[in-house]
Amino acid sequence: MKIEKYTKLIGNELLPNIQLSTEGPFDPIIVKNFSNTWQTIGSGNYAGVFLHQSNPKWVVKVYGREPEELKKEVEVYKKLGNHQSFSSLIDSGDNYLILKRIDGINLFDAVVKGVPIPESVVNDVDEGMAYARAKGLNPFDVHGKNVVMSNGRGYIVDVSDFYKQGKCRKWDDLKRAYYKIYLPIIYKYRLRVPFFIVNSVRKGYRFYRKIKKGNK
Ligand SMILES: Nc1ncnc2c1ncn2[C@@H]1O[C@H](COP(=O)(O)OP(=O)(O)O)[C@@H](O)[C@H]1O
Ligand SMILES: [Mg+2]
Repeated sequence: MKIEKYTKLIGNELLPNIQLSTEGPFDPIIVKNFSNTWQTIGSGNYAGVFLHQSNPKWVVKVYGREPEELKKEVEVYKKLGNHQSFSSLIDSGDNYLILKRIDGINLFDAVVKGVPIPESVVNDVDEGMAYARAKGLNPFDVHGKNVVMSNGRGYIVDVSDFYKQGKCRKWDDLKRAYYKIYLPIIYKYRLRVPFFIVNSVRKGYRFYRKIKKGNK
């Protein structure tokens, strides 16, 4: 699809029909979508992500808070270029990015829905992170909702914090849980873990890391 046509669909049918709001600092963005043609396919801490039925290859990430983060994400994508473990940036507007769609499910939802996550997904993410480091970036905030699995492959879809300094332990901690708990139990017995448990672990983890940081 031509970018001009797609941008018009964003301006005319998407942006006027969505509302992005927040409840608390630990909670993701809440998305209200009144559009008939745009579907909400994800939400994170900053943004809602939308798919238009006429173009399954792209998605639009609309920033609901801290829109200055958007510019940073654009810069990160420019530095990354194209690599198989990432989405790629098609174009950007004042408060949105157009990204290549990864047609799959994020790891958080996969655990809740009982979609098995093979080890290849973990290895792809490791490879992507090594590549980002080689490009002078700092792979930050890589966690279950920022990795999408598609046909057994893993893709890091959220690179907005890759310019940050310091060490982010999320992926290391998640990997430890993957080998200690996920593979030998959840994967082996094909279990589904209820949303409230996965979400409590996520919130508890964020809280725990915050406390630790505060005490340092
Ligand atoms: N390129 C993409 N293709 C498919 N789904 C995506 C893509 N980017 C994001 N998503 C989905 O949208 C969710 C939120 O996107 P994300 O970039 O993490 O937003 P935030 O910066 O607010 O955390 C992700 O968890 C994922 O499920
Ligand atoms: Mg995210």
